[in-house]
Amino acid sequence: TKLCVLISGNGSNLQAIIDEISAGRLDAVVSGVISNRPNAYGLERAKSAGINAVCLDHTQFEDRESYDSALKEQINTFGADCVVLAGFMRILTPEFVDEFAGKLVNIHPSLLPKYKGLHTHQRAIDNGDTEHGVSVHFVTPELDGGPVIIQSRVPVFEGDSADDLAERVQEQERRIYPLVLRWFSAGRLSMRDNKAILDEQEL
Ligand code: GRF
Repeated sequence: TKLCVLISGNGSNLQAIIDEISAGRLDAVVSGVISNRPNAYGLERAKSAGINAVCLDHTQFEDRESYDSALKEQINTFGADCVVLAGFMRILTPEFVDEFAGKLVNIHPSLLPKYKGLHTHQRAIDNGDTEHGVSVHFVTPELDGGPVIIQSRVPVFEGDSADDLAERVQEQERRIYPLVLRWFSAGRLSMRDNKAILDEQEL
């Protein structure tokens, strides 16, 4: 299974995927990494792992459509059975999303449908939530709105900072994203009628 991973920053989710593959726990290859930001540390992570990595800098494109068209071209050049958004901080056009429907996944640091968008950890703290977490979902044209595949919950402790909470969430991210990709690589996971299906069972 060819995974094309899209990043914008640190790449901790990318690193988790690379490590699982190296450890023989994920039967897939990362066919390429694409970052929209030139200084994304995840590009270094890819290069250190000998993985093709390119930057498609969105500031160099006229508009969202032309960017997404270049993105689609690069993904198809690398080859992808699944396009994995991993800390990718761009909103994709409906045309792009429809092109990869059912093989485009994202990880979002909240218990969707709560806290779509940004600054999810601080929002959970500000709301006095005692529980928070992370969701992996299929991507549909609705921002952070596609069918959820898996969620993992973490406690929020008194006095937690957003960084404390982010660290606790990211520990779960590193666990559940490779799990979802194991399911996908084994042909067990699909999206049907805007629902996530594992082994023919609706999730
Ligand atoms: C992570 O918290 C992830 O949930 C969100 O972006 C953050 C950074 O991800 N999507 P990464 O370290 O760049 O993979």
